[in-house]
Amino acid sequence: MSKLRVNAFSVAADGFGAGPDQGRDHPLGRGGEQLHDWFIPTRTFQRNVQRREGGTTGADDDFAARSFENLGAWIMGRNMFGPVRGPWPDYEWKGWWGANPPYHVPVFVLTHHPRPPMEMEGGTVFHFVTQGIEAALEQARAAAEGKDVRIGGGAATIRQYLQARLIDEMHLAISPILLGRGEPLFEGLDLPALGYKVKEHVSTGAAMHLVVGR
Ligand SMILES: NC(=O)c1ccc[n+]([C@@H]2O[C@H](COP(=O)([O-])OP(=O)(O)OC[C@H]3O[C@@H](n4cnc5c(N)ncnc54)[C@H](OP(=O)(O)O)[C@@H]3O)[C@@H](O)[C@H]2O)c1
Repeated sequence: MSKLRVNAFSVAADGFGAGPDQGRDHPLGRGGEQLHDWFIPTRTFQRNVQRREGGTTGADDDFAARSFENLGAWIMGRNMFGPVRGPWPDYEWKGWWGANPPYHVPVFVLTHHPRPPMEMEGGTVFHFVTQGIEAALEQARAAAEGKDVRIGGGAATIRQYLQARLIDEMHLAISPILLGRGEPLFEGLDLPALGYKVKEHVSTGAAMHLVVGR
């Protein structure tokens, strides 16, 4: 049965999934790059994203590896896709990830501003969905052909799918940093009332990994 999953979403100890002032110089907001300190050194990140050999093994890498398993499509918010806000002035911006993004399957980008689909090298096709979260999920499930759909982020997108009780499983890596401001993941959500509980937790020197499910 195809699941809707969040994986490897890094959260600061004070609940922010990105720092303030997102922009070209600060994709994750100010200070936000530290969120991924557990993830970047792993063998999985090095291999799948940097296309390099080497990297750490152990529990952080185990969670990183799980995050890429059995994926047929992704969903992300427009702010995760890039720093452009408002109507697209042109179609020059093609994501942070270069010509061959590390997705290799269809990616559905939630936005209020229509844009034609964009085919990248390596199997990634970005589709821009303006009809809301249910429509994006329906299109992603159809594209995934029985495999799981992963929500990449950011916080605003994950919050909507949690509120709608559509997420089956969510792996969070709580990073030992405080951001103070930014994009709050949990704001306005009563996860227990929505039926979610912590199903698994593992702490490493770099993060506390939680798997939350229903
Ligand atoms: N911590 C992590 O592991 C992690 C992972 C991924 C991303 N990030 C970071 O998170 C940040 C982005 O998160 P975010 O919370 O600011 O935003 P986001 O969820 O990526 O995107 C929000 C935007 O997506 C569009 N959108 C969302 N829901 C929609 C809906 N139902 N209908 C139509 N459009 C919709 C809207 O854009 P428009 O109205 O402008 O179209 C909205 O402003 C970035 O800094 C990114 O690098 C962090």
